[in-house]
Amino acid sequence: MSWTMRLATAVLILSLMMVVTTDEEENDQCMYEALPDIDAVLCKGLEVFYPELGNIGCMFVPNCNNYRQKITQWPAPTVKFPRALEDATYLLVMVDPDVPSRSNPQSRFWRHWLVADIKGIDLKKGKIWGQELSAYQPPAPPTQTGFHRYQFFVYLQKGRTISLLPGENKTRASWKMDRFLNRYDLNEPEASTQYMTQNYQDSPNFQAPGGRSSEPKERPKQR
Ligand SMILES: *[C@@H]1O[C@H](CO)[C@@H](O)[C@H](O)[C@H]1NC(C)=O
Repeated sequence: MSWTMRLATAVLILSLMMVVTTDEEENDQCMYEALPDIDAVLCKGLEVFYPELGNIGCMFVPNCNNYRQKITQWPAPTVKFPRALEDATYLLVMVDPDVPSRSNPQSRFWRHWLVADIKGIDLKKGKIWGQELSAYQPPAPPTQTGFHRYQFFVYLQKGRTISLLPGENKTRASWKMDRFLNRYDLNEPEASTQYMTQNYQDSPNFQAPGGRSSEPKERPKQR
């Protein structure tokens, strides 16, 4: 190899290394933190995709790239149930149980999205095509109310026409979801998941909860 070739190769390798380093730094700030175990129990077979984020099921919305602001404006996500039965019909529910906050959920549930008559063959591919009983409303956690859970449930529809009562349709707040499900004999969801986010103004220097949980869980006991 000539001297100039060697120099060129060295420069190329160096610049590649720099690219890799920069990427890693960005990824570091943009870590996807999994939900703690207590909240991960709901993550059963359902995937929720937003643009840029990808599948956010079972994750905190990362505190970077304005994701926590952007998600309040993005249109409805793609919701995919890969194990859906092609010939079955499903109901999709999206709710926030933490209204106004998780510590004081007086107005549970907030109904974000309700779609009936989704064909299994569509749900399998993430296409939420059906009867929209409540139009999609993006998450909008108020400031100072902590992290909110955004929960998605998919139920097998049993041939009955599903609708909201006029009183239910009037407002999204304080939805008695249990009563609604009982009305249509819907018990256990076929699949579910959730993600969590908080108001973007509340987390300028958000410390990933995963970072905290890496601390020893128990202090050394003194005898
Ligand atoms: C009321 O019903 C209409 C028609 O189904 C729907 O588009 C709308 O989103 C509903 N409103 C609420 C608050 O659920």
